[in-house]
Amino acid sequence: MKTMDYKRPGLHGEIQVPGDKSISHRSVMFGAIAEGTTTVEGFLLGEDCLSTIDCFRKLGVKIDVDGTNVKIESAGIDAWKEPKEVLYTGNSGTTTRLMLGILAGTKIHTIMTGDASIGKRPMRRVVDPLRLMGAQIAGREGGQFTPLAIQGTELTSIDYTMPVASAQVKSAILLAGLRAKGTTVVRESEISRDHTERMLRQFGAKVETADGVVSFEGGQKLRGTHVNVPGDISSAAFFLVAGAIAQKSEIVLKNVGVNETRAGIIDVLQAMGADMEVVIEDEQAAEPTATITIRTSNLAGTTIEGAIIPRLIDEIPILALLATQAQGRTIIKDAEELKVKETDRITAVVAELKKLGADIEATEDGMIINGPTKLHGASLQSYGDHRIGMMAAVAALIADGPVEIDDPDCIAVSYPMFFEHIEALMNH
Ligand code: S3P
Repeated sequence: MKTMDYKRPGLHGEIQVPGDKSISHRSVMFGAIAEGTTTVEGFLLGEDCLSTIDCFRKLGVKIDVDGTNVKIESAGIDAWKEPKEVLYTGNSGTTTRLMLGILAGTKIHTIMTGDASIGKRPMRRVVDPLRLMGAQIAGREGGQFTPLAIQGTELTSIDYTMPVASAQVKSAILLAGLRAKGTTVVRESEISRDHTERMLRQFGAKVETADGVVSFEGGQKLRGTHVNVPGDISSAAFFLVAGAIAQKSEIVLKNVGVNETRAGIIDVLQAMGADMEVVIEDEQAAEPTATITIRTSNLAGTTIEGAIIPRLIDEIPILALLATQAQGRTIIKDAEELKVKETDRITAVVAELKKLGADIEATEDGMIINGPTKLHGASLQSYGDHRIGMMAAVAALIADGPVEIDDPDCIAVSYPMFFEHIEALMNH
């Protein structure tokens, strides 16, 4: 339990948000698959990424963590040991789903399980295409839910059209494709984040991408390399919104990853009229970065739908809070994927923002918000979901009374320094 009685402060100063969660996971996975040494800088020490490290250590991969620098030494995937223990993936959907793709093509047997939230998240979306490649995976309800047992085997490539926009599904197939005979092809009608494709290239693989089609030859070897992890735009999102809605504020966010498959929130803030500047720092890097300045803004409601949804799927809880402070109606649709995140985020966001006095209704595939409304204090639930917890904390910055959250510790999944950063900006 944490009570936040922030008394509507102005927020000022500069912060560097922690490393990108998606890229941090992949840096360890790719480093473990590759032969040689991989060094990572800017790694996210959040609980999810530590779960990934823990799984690979159980597979016998040597991983040293020194602050946010990580060194992975591997003799390649065929040198992994069959673990005596269950691989525990905690709260992390990315670890569970991508590991399925990786483990399917090994020569070893593994069992994977996670926390109560992971136990409710659908795995058939990954297990089904992997089975088409020949994977041997067993689990509850035909492989829909953890615990999952994976007997590594030889795989053959597939040409797969994605039924949902999901980078986790795409990445699991591509990672299995590394070990498969033939050319693996994945087709997406809406483009999901492309960190896996970028990192495959960084580790020396040849990958073709064009018009939503990714293809590459199986059997390619990865070579250890250096990975620079940019700041996580999904973490920056909480401060972008805080800066826009808190009174008399100006926040500078340094080294934010702005890969266009992730940066939908920037487009939405611009469309809503936010007072914001984005200065791209390194466009040539494997993952481009920017310095973003955000100031207190007069915002107008907007519609968020269609192809932009996968580009901001994790930012919808905080964008819903933003919309409560915008003039007019905001409509969020085509976002039914929110129902299968760490919790059902449509239900959770609507229930918790209502407790603060917001005018918000759930729809089948999103929500409708009318603004602006003055928010008051309330006692909120995070449902063990880091992004709902952080949404509640940002709401506390603008609410008239104290806001309480039941489980502030869940925020450490992606942003262990979150409350320190809020305090630094309030006391500047
Ligand atoms: C992620 C992909 C997204 C995202 C998740 C991380 C990834 O999930 O919501 O937080 O690292 O690939 P889906 O691919 O299931 O949409």
